[in-house]
Amino acid sequence: MRTVIKNGRIVTAVDDYNADILIEDGTISMIAKKIEIEADKVIDASGKLVIPGGIDPHTHMELPFGGTYASDDFKTGTVAAAFGGTTTIIDFAVQYHGQSLNQALDAWFAKAQGKTAIDYGFHMICTDLPDQRLPEIKSLIDQGISSFKLFMAYPGVFLVDDGTIFKAMSIAGESGGLICMHAENGLVIDVLVKRALAEGRTSPKYHALTRPTKAEGEGTGRAIALAEMANSPVYIVHLSCYDALRKVVEARDAGLPAYAETCPQYLFLDYTYYERENFEGAKYVMTPPLRDKENQEKLWRGLQMNDLQVVSTDHCPFCFKEQKELGRDDFSKIPNGGPGVENRMSLIYNGGVVSGKISINRFVEIVSTSPAKIFGLFPKKGTIAVGSDADIVIFDPNEEMTISATTHHMNVDYSCYEGFKVKGVTKTVLSRGKVIIEDGNYLGTPGDGQFLKRGHFNSPR
Ligand code: URP
Ligand code: ZN
Ligand code: ZN
Repeated sequence: MRTVIKNGRIVTAVDDYNADILIEDGTISMIAKKIEIEADKVIDASGKLVIPGGIDPHTHMELPFGGTYASDDFKTGTVAAAFGGTTTIIDFAVQYHGQSLNQALDAWFAKAQGKTAIDYGFHMICTDLPDQRLPEIKSLIDQGISSFKLFMAYPGVFLVDDGTIFKAMSIAGESGGLICMHAENGLVIDVLVKRALAEGRTSPKYHALTRPTKAEGEGTGRAIALAEMANSPVYIVHLSCYDALRKVVEARDAGLPAYAETCPQYLFLDYTYYERENFEGAKYVMTPPLRDKENQEKLWRGLQMNDLQVVSTDHCPFCFKEQKELGRDDFSKIPNGGPGVENRMSLIYNGGVVSGKISINRFVEIVSTSPAKIFGLFPKKGTIAVGSDADIVIFDPNEEMTISATTHHMNVDYSCYEGFKVKGVTKTVLSRGKVIIEDGNYLGTPGDGQFLKRGHFNSPR
């Protein structure tokens, strides 16, 4: 199968030029000023950007949480991702107490098998790591699961203690793996939550008010200190505020291998959303919570200065009706998480490039190239180059759209960005050379997405 993309403006993390692309058998085989060759399919990308497919390294399809499940499964969630220009996700498998890491992995393979519309990898959330299980970390790295999420929050469910974190970091660091840290002081947060509920403060805004930025700052500083002692890199997930960012900045200025991602919700939404009437604030109950608006410009600066390397989504949707409702009388029972996998590329293009905060190359870097490098997928993914997978997005930088739950493809009954007007729209998506999105239609076959056996952690810089 031969496909040629003609007349496009190819943008990678470092390049910006006009050329044609030849795709053969799923990979890019030639890039040249003009390609005149017999092809099965010719795509005219005149006036459009041709960019590497987005890589969202933080999703939770069908995650069990708070007595329910995230409402997107691997089919609906990956089709929605494709509509938004994301061609790879890295989802979080969960190890429950008593399970081996491989038992947990098998359960997530079973969820994804035959369903994914795009390529996918897994991180492993570890909740139970006695000493005899630590070697399983190296074994998972050898199987292509080269990153692990540990939680400093959610005592009794996900939280692991500092000794365990230190031991896991040591073994991951020496084996080419990466620890991804949910960095919030969960023990303090638990006290604050119990106090609030005892005082009758039950509405959604107390989710935010019981999770102060200092708790995230403390967790982030501690995670970095533990990583330094273990001589390992660390990656802070869903960083939401300046109190946490400045710990990362300090560490990176000291030359430590500390990395971090933020998410669109922290760049575009703020605490006031929790004050919406009729329980609407529950739509934004996610962890860490939305912060005061002044944090947003600090996060953008973090992206500009490369103190934040990635924008992921932490896509973890729960329907407003029936699922978020579970916490109508008690904010701590609202399932934590929100939708976003479909919106990331347009939101960051519009909010970053159109508004002049970041360059177009930096846009590609933070939504595709850096996650590919950090999570062992580069240069197969994350760039447009001869030999790379033809995961390509043809993106109209001038078209505008209005984000709405009435038109999105995610399996959730609301949008966090309802009514947001964005400039920059995904038009055509190729996954390993096959057109899967065209003219507003999904043309792929769920199950065509391949599991990605990822390589070792690689510093993006
Ligand atoms: O609220 C969130 N973020 N839900 C998903 C779990 C996590 O901590 O990433
Ligand atoms: Zn988390
Ligand atoms: Zn998450």
